[in-house]
Amino acid sequence: MRLSTLIPLAAVLSLSAAATTAASEEELKAGKRVYMTKTCLACHGRGGAKPVLSYPVLAGQNEKYIVDQMEEIRDGKRVGSVDEATGHPYVQGMVDIMHLVTEDDIDHVAAWLSEQPTAPPKPLDPAPDPALLKAGEKAYKQLGCRSCHGADGSKPTNPRYPFISGMNPEYAIRAMTEIRDKERTSGQSKLMWGTIKKAEDEEILAIATWLATIDRSAK
Ligand code: HEC
Ligand code: HEC
Repeated sequence: MRLSTLIPLAAVLSLSAAATTAASEEELKAGKRVYMTKTCLACHGRGGAKPVLSYPVLAGQNEKYIVDQMEEIRDGKRVGSVDEATGHPYVQGMVDIMHLVTEDDIDHVAAWLSEQPTAPPKPLDPAPDPALLKAGEKAYKQLGCRSCHGADGSKPTNPRYPFISGMNPEYAIRAMTEIRDKERTSGQSKLMWGTIKKAEDEEILAIATWLATIDRSAK
C-alpha cells in the first residue's frame, strides 16, 4: 500500500527535476549565439569539437564543469602555466575576451556545448608506440583515476568532474602536470592531488597519449 503511493510520487518528482534542469530550446539557441559571436569558435573550433593548437575540446563536456571553469578563468583563479612561445599563460587569450560574456551567457553556452557531438580524436602523428598506450592504460588503472573519470575517461562519476578522453595530449599533459605541481589549484583540482602526486612525468605522458586515442564519439 505504502509502496504504491510512493512510486508515482517519486516518478513525478524525478520528472519535474528533469524539466527544471534541462535547458530550453531558447537557452540552447542563445548558447550557440554566444559561442559563434563571442570569439569562442576561433579557439575551440566548430561546435567545440575541433580546437586549434593544444586547446581543450569542449563538445560534450559536462555542463557544470564548463560553468565552473569559465568562472574560474574569468575571475583569474585558474591561470595555469606560461606558454614559452608567447610569454603569457596559455589561458590569457581567453581571459582577454571574458569581459564580453555575461553570467547568463556562461550558463547558455555551457548548456549548448554540453550537447554538442564530439568528433573522433585527431590521429596522433607520429602514431604512438603500442607499448606506450598499454603503459598509459595500466598507469591510469593503477593510480585510481577511474574512480572519478570512469573506466577510460569517458564517464565521469560526478557531473562536476570533466570528461578527459579524446583530448589533445599536449593539453592533457599540461593540465595534469599543472595540477600535480599545484600551478592549477582552482576549482576542484585539489580532489586530484592525492592521486596525481604519485604520477611521474613518464606516466603522465603515457596516460595522456592513451586518453588521446579514445574516441568518445563512438560511445
Ligand atoms: C584566444 C583563444 C580562446 C578563446 C577566444 C576562448 N578560449 Fe576557452 N580556452 C582557451 C585556452 C587556451 C584554454 C585552456 C587554457 C589552459 O591550458 O589552461 C581554454 C579553456 C576553456 C575552458 C576550460 C576547458 C577545460 O577542459 O578545462 C572552457 C570551458 C572554455 N575555454 C570555454 C570558452 C568559451 C565558451 C569561450 C567563448 C566565450 C572561450 N573559451 C574563448 C582559449 C580560448
Ligand atoms: C577524486 C577524484 C579524481 C581523481 C581520483 C582523479 N581526478 Fe582528474 N580531475 C578531477 C576533477 C574534479 C577535475 C577538475 C578540476 C578543476 O575543477 O579544475 C579533474 C581534472 C583532470 C584533468 C584536466 C581536465 C581538463 O579539462 O582540464 C585531467 C587531464 C585529469 N583530471 C586526469 C586525471 C588522471 C590521469 C587521474 C589519475 C592519475 C585523475 N585525473 C584522478 C577529479 C579526479
